[in-house]
Formats: sequence, structure tokens, C-alpha cells
Amino acid sequence: MDVMEAIRTRLDIKEYSNEPVSNEVKREILDAGRMSSSGFNAQHWRFILVDDKDKIGRLAEISITGKWVAGASFAVILLTDPSYPFHVIDAGRALTNMQLAAWSRGVASSIFTGYDEAAMRREFGIPNNLAITAVIGFGYPARRIKGRKNRKPLNEVAFHNHYGSPLRLD
Ligand SMILES: Cc1cc2nc3c(=O)[nH]c(=O)nc-3n(C[C@H](O)[C@H](O)[C@H](O)COP(=O)(O)O)c2cc1C
Repeated sequence: MDVMEAIRTRLDIKEYSNEPVSNEVKREILDAGRMSSSGFNAQHWRFILVDDKDKIGRLAEISITGKWVAGASFAVILLTDPSYPFHVIDAGRALTNMQLAAWSRGVASSIFTGYDEAAMRREFGIPNNLAITAVIGFGYPARRIKGRKNRKPLNEVAFHNHYGSPLRLD
């Protein structure tokens, strides 16, 4: 799947089938995160792969806005070093790379950011100096993906040379 096609067709999917994802694909997804660029090339992100069924269950219990992760085949907890002011941008790049790499292999995903922080740190041994920036759940989609992306038109969000000037690309 070419990159533009992956970007155009990927939707956040929160219902997954029971089909397991191979270790090879899991490794590719993590590698897509590792290959991301980061400010100063600091590479401060850390990824915890969670594919133990009981641990995924705990992740769902601890989550506030991501109960759907209970049905995921696996999840990645994305940690970043908040002493870098741009750490959230770096996190966004890494998680986007992982989600697109996954989708190019037919693996759907979504993210959540609401959880009981103290419980997460306890359960997964996360050190206090790292921020828990997002959790990404992955799995093959439960059903054929229907629907279109609900996105604003390009002319509403992009301007030409000056804020508010309409795009002239025709
Ligand atoms: C920064 C960010 C935080 C998000 N947090 C949550 C969350 O806590 N729980 C959740 O179920 N979805 C979360 N999402 C998923 C969004 O709801 C989803 O990306 C958005 O609705 C677009 O979905 P679509 O690509 O399928 O159109 C988050 C997405 C982003 C980018």
C-alpha cells in the first residue's frame, strides 16, 4: 500500500477480530516508531509492547477513555521525556508512523490518552521521569471498514502565502 493510500484510507478502529498479529508485523510496527524523527534526534521515546492477554485486560481496566483496548490483539504504551518541550510532537510522529505501518499490513489501530496514571506506572513499571503520552491498541479489524473520513475540506484548513488567502493550485 502506498503512503498516500494508507493516509487516505486509515480510520481509527476500536473493534478487532481474534486473528493474532504475527511477531514479525509487531516488530515492523515498533520499528516504524523507532525510525521516526525527533527533535535534536533525541530519540527519547520508549515503547512498551503489551501482548499478554491479562496485561491487556489490566490496561483496559486502568484506562478511562480506552476501554475498547480490551479487544485489541496488542497495545503499545508510548512514553516520552517531558524535559524536551517538543516531546508531544515527537510522540505524534512516532505514533503516526506506527499506525500507518500497521495499516499498510492490514492492522487497524486507535489511541487513547485517558488513564489512571498511578496505576499505569505501578502495573507497567514506568519510571516517573517519562510521560505516558498515549496508548495505541492494534488488531485486525472486526469487520470490513465502512464509511469515509469525516474531514474538513482542504480550502478550509490550508491557505496560500497568507493566512486566510484561498489556495490557488488549479
Ligand atoms: C491526540 C489524540 C487523542 C485521542 N484520544 C482518544 C481517547 O482518549 N479515546 C479514544 O477512544 N480515542 C481517542 N482518539 C481517537 C480519535 O477520536 C480519532 O482519531 C478521531 O475521531 C478520528 O478518527 P478517524 O480517523 O477514524 O476519522 C484520539 C486521537 C488523537 C489524535
